[in-house]
Amino acid sequence: MEKTFYITTPIYYPSDKLHIGHSYTTVAADSLARYMRLRGYDCRFLTGTDEHGQKIERVAAENGKPPKEYVDGIVEWIKELWSALDIEYDDFIRTTDRKHMECVQKIFRRLYEQGDIYKGKYEGLYCAPCETFFTERQLKDGKCPDCGRAVEPVSEEAYFFRLSKYQGAIIKHIEENPEFIQPQSRQNEMLNNFLRPGLEDLCVSRTSFKWGVPVDFDPGHVVYVWIDALSNYVTALNYLTEEDALFKKYWPADIHLVGKEIVRFHAIIWPALLMALGLPLPKQVFGHGWLIIDGGKMSKSKGNVIDPRPLAERYGIDAVRYFLMREVPFGQDGNFTHEALLNRINADLANDLGNLLSRAVGMIDKYFGGVLPSEQESGEFDGELIKTAEGAVSAVEDFMGRLLFSDALTEIWAFIRRANKYVDETRPWVLAKSPEKSARLAGVLYNLAESLRIIAVLVSPFMTRCPSEIRRQIGASAPALAEWGSVEKFGALPRDVRAAKGEPIFPRLDIAEELKRYQDAPAEAPETPGKPEISLDDFSKIELKIGEVLACEKVEGTDKLLKSQIKIGDEVRTIVSGIAKSYSPEEMLGKKVTVVTNLKPVKLRGILSQGMLLAAEGADGGPSLLTPDRGAGSGAVIS
Ligand code: MSP
Repeated sequence: MEKTFYITTPIYYPSDKLHIGHSYTTVAADSLARYMRLRGYDCRFLTGTDEHGQKIERVAAENGKPPKEYVDGIVEWIKELWSALDIEYDDFIRTTDRKHMECVQKIFRRLYEQGDIYKGKYEGLYCAPCETFFTERQLKDGKCPDCGRAVEPVSEEAYFFRLSKYQGAIIKHIEENPEFIQPQSRQNEMLNNFLRPGLEDLCVSRTSFKWGVPVDFDPGHVVYVWIDALSNYVTALNYLTEEDALFKKYWPADIHLVGKEIVRFHAIIWPALLMALGLPLPKQVFGHGWLIIDGGKMSKSKGNVIDPRPLAERYGIDAVRYFLMREVPFGQDGNFTHEALLNRINADLANDLGNLLSRAVGMIDKYFGGVLPSEQESGEFDGELIKTAEGAVSAVEDFMGRLLFSDALTEIWAFIRRANKYVDETRPWVLAKSPEKSARLAGVLYNLAESLRIIAVLVSPFMTRCPSEIRRQIGASAPALAEWGSVEKFGALPRDVRAAKGEPIFPRLDIAEELKRYQDAPAEAPETPGKPEISLDDFSKIELKIGEVLACEKVEGTDKLLKSQIKIGDEVRTIVSGIAKSYSPEEMLGKKVTVVTNLKPVKLRGILSQGMLLAAEGADGGPSLLTPDRGAGSGAVIS
């Protein structure tokens, strides 16, 4: 039976600002998938997009589009990004796919029916941009610990998943399966920081927004983020459908590749959900480090994101992919600089690899008219070269098995450098001067061509373009010569090598010149968190007036809303506002407030609210009403 391998990336939040950091995860997954295919596995590589939630709902509205229409455009953009980096996924799941949504509903219902999901009340602090709930303890200076923005107190009916029930089983699984969470440091972090201190049940539905998978047995609730997002790994395989052959074939996943900040969800929540569903757990969750910039995380709000596309266009896809996998040991954080990229291109790609190819092909061409004679002699230095080649192959196998991409590439480059040294040691240009040494010269050039062929195969999981060009130039285009089996022993290349000269595969760059492009380039304007610019005309459509609170009471059935009677000039209006947690009705009496008076009336809890009170975000994170500075009277126009 064919060996299978199922690898996933996280599903990405739809944003047209995905950057080289996001590409890091996908390039790693793609490289591993290519490697597994090369090793004869039936490999399935899944990626996709995580499209629901309040944030998308809001951003779509800001862009004047229904959420689905908004995400459709972005998903196309993301697919183009992956294609610009030669990412070859087998499946792309969208959480708005019907099959996904139906399966999430089935999962939710099943967990509810078996008692793993129950209805309760959620009270907490919510950060809308991060779509995350926090406890008071988790806040930093009263703000969201992740983005530093204000959080809002929320209290609502919600469904909960009995995460706490699975604490012991997860700890046991991790202890019995040391490979489950990698690298080791992340395993310790999960056990010591989260699992051993104790797990709380998890809020898995919301009523405060609509853009999500509806809970089919309780309208008004939508499935909240993690059940929707995490289950993509099985819904993509048609889990819980009649046509679940893919699920049977590929589940459990061999590896979930994720960035370090979401290991927790994959190593705790996801296993608990799978246990509840009676499904086997993935074999491994690997949490890689971040690509950072000037010591900090790349983020669109800081305006320091690097777009991989112009880099791939200018230096080639191979250069970008090579850099990403080589520069930073997978698992650790690493700084991105243009200088480091350019140095890698010149030193490793142009000097080491590019030179080896042009030297070998150039000499086969020059000394033998492009075709090596069959009479070939071995000699000094061959043994060491062959030993290095075979050693590199087994080292790559070992490193790739542990996702040590950078170490695998370091090993391949040690072999490339050894081959360059072999040229200096055997000195073909000297051999060429003596006709009686022709067989030795042919032997030397054969060894170089064979080394290059092996190198082409070894780098092919990482680099998608140059391997076929290397093989073309050394006359090794036959598909069998690109197979892994052909590199385990030196010498698979037929002796009568037919070389075809070509352009240098990695032209040398003038680094100082190139760097100017980035120094001169204006930094991308930071994306100010907020709404799109509007014209004065737009602004003048809003009518703002000062009002005075004549009466105020709590709205029944909620602890969030106050109903106020507000005098605005000659008229009195009823306005409902979500300020009950910060203001008591007594405190409101007589207050001068700022009112949006031409807002279309809306019904809140059955009360027609005829306007809106303006409030700023107060120091405690709650609303702070705007009142006029100097005695402006009721009805005064604000302009
Ligand atoms: N939607 C969630 C994942 C749900 S999985 C069930 C999410 N999406 S994301 O778009 O924010 O991030 C996707 C992946 O990109 C994550 O693994 C994240 O770690 C990775 N990266 C984002 N920025 C990164 C860097 N600067 N460096 C390396 N990886 C980074 O999280």
